Amino acid sequence: MDIRGIRFLLNGEAQHVAVAPTVTLLDWLRETRHLTGTKEGCNEGDCGACTVMVTEADGTSRALNACILFMGQLDGRALRTVEGIATPDGALHPVQQAMIDHHGSQCGFCTPGFVVSMAVAHLNGRRDFDDQLAGNLCRCTGYAPIIRAAEAAADAPVPDWMRADADMLTSSSFTFPKIRATTSPPRQTLDQAPPANVVAPDSSDALAAWYLDNPDATLIAGATDVGLWVTKGLRDLSPVAFLNGCADLRGITVTDDTIRLGAMTTVTEFGAFIADRHPSLGELVRRYGSVQVRNAATIGGNIANGSPIGDSPPALIALGAALHLRRGDARRVIALEDFFLDYGKQDRAPGEFVEAVTIPVQPDTLACYKLSKRFDQDISAVCGCFNIALADGRVSAARIAFGGMAGTPRRARAVEAALIGEAWDETTITAAQAAFNDDFTPLSDMRASAAYRLRAAQAMLWRYFEGSRGIATDVLEVRA
Ligand SMILES: Cc1cc2nc3c(=O)[nH]c(=O)nc-3n(C[C@H](O)[C@H](O)[C@H](O)COP(=O)(O)OP(=O)(O)OC[C@H]3O[C@@H](n4cnc5c(N)ncnc54)[C@H](O)[C@@H]3O)c2cc1C
Ligand code: FES
Ligand code: FES
Repeated sequence: MDIRGIRFLLNGEAQHVAVAPTVTLLDWLRETRHLTGTKEGCNEGDCGACTVMVTEADGTSRALNACILFMGQLDGRALRTVEGIATPDGALHPVQQAMIDHHGSQCGFCTPGFVVSMAVAHLNGRRDFDDQLAGNLCRCTGYAPIIRAAEAAADAPVPDWMRADADMLTSSSFTFPKIRATTSPPRQTLDQAPPANVVAPDSSDALAAWYLDNPDATLIAGATDVGLWVTKGLRDLSPVAFLNGCADLRGITVTDDTIRLGAMTTVTEFGAFIADRHPSLGELVRRYGSVQVRNAATIGGNIANGSPIGDSPPALIALGAALHLRRGDARRVIALEDFFLDYGKQDRAPGEFVEAVTIPVQPDTLACYKLSKRFDQDISAVCGCFNIALADGRVSAARIAFGGMAGTPRRARAVEAALIGEAWDETTITAAQAAFNDDFTPLSDMRASAAYRLRAAQAMLWRYFEGSRGIATDVLEVRA
C-alpha cells in the first residue's frame, strides 16, 4: 500500500517519481519540473489559474485545480498541463487558436487555466460554457471574448493528442514501466526521498484495517478541504491515507427503494445523477464551487468535514439520508442529522470513517435554496432545503434542513411541527415562519448577519409555498 513512487503520464510521457505524496501538484510542476505554464493565483482552489487535465484509468478526463491536488492523488492517472494542450511541434489546439482569433487574452495570467478548462470541455463535448468556465477567473479581458472563443471552437474535431492519454490508460497492454536508472524514454525521475507513513489502500477493507491502527491519520478524499490545510495552514498531515484507490467507496447504486452514494462519489457524479430525480438539488450542486472543485470534492468529504455551511448535508437530511460508518469490521448506520453533534464535533469514533450515504427513493417534493454573496463559486451564507409532502390540501410530511443557521447543518424541527397536519395556506406558512425563532439562533459573520439569516430562512419557506402554487421564484426564471 505504500506509495514508494508515483506513476503517471505527464503530457504523454510515463513518469515514476519518488516525491512526498502531500506535495501539491502545482508546486511539483513549477518548482521541480519548471512547467510554469500552470499558474499560481490564489493557491486555494478559487481562481482556476492552475487548471490541469487529469485522465482516470477508465479514460474519463476532468479539469482539476493543481494547487489543491496532491501528488499522491495522481498515481495511475494521466496529467496534461497547458504545455501538453498544443502538440510538441507547436500545432495549436482549436481552443488556443480561437482565443487568439477572438481576443480572449490580455495580460494572459489566467489564459493557461482557461485554455485547459476549455480543452477539457471541448474533449467532453460540453457546451455549457458559463458553467464550465465559472471556476476560471479573469480580471482584465472580460468573459464575453473568452466565451465567444469557446463557442467558436466547439465544432472543431478533437485533436488526436487529446485522446492519447485515455487510449493509453485503457489499452489492455499498457502498464507503467518499472523504475530504472536510465532516463531514455519513457522518462523516469526520482525527485525526492521516498515518503514516510503514507498509504493508498485499494479497498475499504484495507483502509479499515490500517485506520484502526492509525486513528490519528488524515484521510484524503478529494483534498478540496485538506489541500488548504497544507497551502494555507502549512500543516504536516502525516500519517496519511489517500482514499481514491478504494474502488468500493466509489459509485452510486440504486435499488427499488434506496439510492446508495459511496463516500468517494464526487460532487460532479452526484450532481449528474441527482438532477433527474431532484432537479432543485441538481441546480444546487451546479452552484457548488466550480467544475474543478466539484470534480475533486466527494460527498463523504463534504459530510465528514462537519462544516456548518457544506451544501450537501442540508439537502441529504431533507431527503431523509442515512450515514454508513465503519470502524474496523464494525459498521453502524445513523440518521445523517445525528452525525453533526456540535460545531467541529461529529459522532465519529477514532478509526471510524464514512463508507456511504443512502437516500430513500421518493417522489420529488424537494426544493433547495442557496444564498451566497456571489451566484457562482461561492460558499453559502444560508442554504435551506425543504421536502414537504401534501395530501388533500394539508401537509402530510415535512423534512426541512439548513446550513449556515447554526454551528452544524440542522433540521428545523419546530418549523416542521408547525406545518405537519395543517392546511397548506398562508396562515400556516405565517405561523410556521415564527417557529424559526425556536429552531435557530444564527451567528453574524462576514457572510451575513444573524437577523438577515433568520429573515432569509423564513422567506425561503414562503418561496417554497409560492413555488408549490406554480409561481416562478427563481431569479433565472422570473421575468419582468
Ligand atoms: C474553491 C472552493 C469552493 C468550495 N465551494 C463549496 C461549496 O460551494 N459548497 C460546499 O459545500 N463546499 C464547498 N467547498 C468545500 C469542499 O469542496 C467540500 O467540503 C468538499 O466536499 C470536501 O470533500 P473532499 O473530498 O475534497 O474532502 P477532503 O478535503 O479530502 O476531506 C475533508 C475532510 O473530510 C475527511 N474525510 C474525507 N473523506 C472521508 C471519509 N470517507 N470518512 C471520514 N473522513 C473523511 C478528511 O479527513 C477531512 O477531514 C469548496 C472548497 C473550495 C476549495
Ligand atoms: S491557484 Fe487559484 S485555483 Fe489554484
Ligand atoms: S487576461 Fe488578465 S486576468 Fe485574464
